[in-house]
Amino acid sequence: MSPLHVTRTLPEDATGAALRADVRHGLTVTPKTLPPKWFYDALGSELFERITDLPEYYPTRAEREILVARSGEIAAASRARTLVELGSGSSEKTRYLIDALTSLEAYVPVDVSESALTQAGQALIAERPGLDVHALIADFTAPLELPRTPGPRLVAFLGGTIGNLLPAERAKFLALVRSMLAPGDGLLLGTDLVKDERVLVRAYDDAAGVTAAFNKNVLAVVNRELGADFEPEAFDHVAVWDREQEWIEMRLRSRTAQTVKVPALDLAVDFAAGEEMRTEVSAKFRRDGIAAELAATGLELTHWWTDAEDRFALSLSVVR
Ligand code: SAH
Ligand code: AVI
Repeated sequence: MSPLHVTRTLPEDATGAALRADVRHGLTVTPKTLPPKWFYDALGSELFERITDLPEYYPTRAEREILVARSGEIAAASRARTLVELGSGSSEKTRYLIDALTSLEAYVPVDVSESALTQAGQALIAERPGLDVHALIADFTAPLELPRTPGPRLVAFLGGTIGNLLPAERAKFLALVRSMLAPGDGLLLGTDLVKDERVLVRAYDDAAGVTAAFNKNVLAVVNRELGADFEPEAFDHVAVWDREQEWIEMRLRSRTAQTVKVPALDLAVDFAAGEEMRTEVSAKFRRDGIAAELAATGLELTHWWTDAEDRFALSLSVVR
């Protein structure tokens, strides 16, 4: 069995510095906002996995259905020898793809969550002894130093995580992805689709309160890392559908007027009663829209697969 290679591409304190910068900016602008990448400490990654099993949260099941049905076609179209997966998390659905890619030699999962990466990586090297698994602890919104592995390369970005980027971030991200691809390489992209507002809101405000716990976990991360004194029970979880932007917005609403201290930033932040802080957008897509965004970065959408209920799409794009 080949060993698991884990590489941290960020300097030791880069994560801490990025968190400090994001929190200082996010808590001093109006409206307040925190970026969603800070949800994913070990507990946040575990809570996300629990979300994927909730009856209301359909995206994971819908995408798995597509992968089960279409991995053979994806493999035939890409013939990848290296699979790079951005925001790989548990890599659970990726196994269908790995099994179908008969020429695959290397798998490069990339994630900010060290716990998710090492758990998934250990399991994969045990299950697929011939596969070279090279895990990268890295932020996929910044240029990546990928290991030297054989092409063709398939870059997978599953789960609909592209929807968690704001439009300007998304354009920058797609340009970065384009720079990772040579002729003959491909991008496999998971996008959640626009649908009935009630189905969408339920998916982000489940009856068991797991999404609420996931949302509030960002406060626990800021408390632990920056010594802040957020009281999670002093905030309510909010999920709303923005019809114009076509995204779900998750927010935390302050129950009372309160002041939160962030000692590592020498900051005291006032929240008014009812004030809402945005913690995530989760954009939903239409085929034409995402095809145009891909085309604008020099990628051509060649395949489009959906689940039986047209809730979620996987697309394959190549360099134009
Ligand atoms: N692809 C998996 C997991 C989706 S959850 C699935 O489809 O189920 C989103 C994943 O992206 C998490 O594991 C999170 O840690 C990771 N992530 C979020 N923002 C990131 C960033 N900026 N850079 C790298 N990983 C990120
Ligand atoms: C990771 N990402 C695609 C999830 C989503 O649906 O936007 C994160 C999530 N947020 C709340 N529930 C799940």
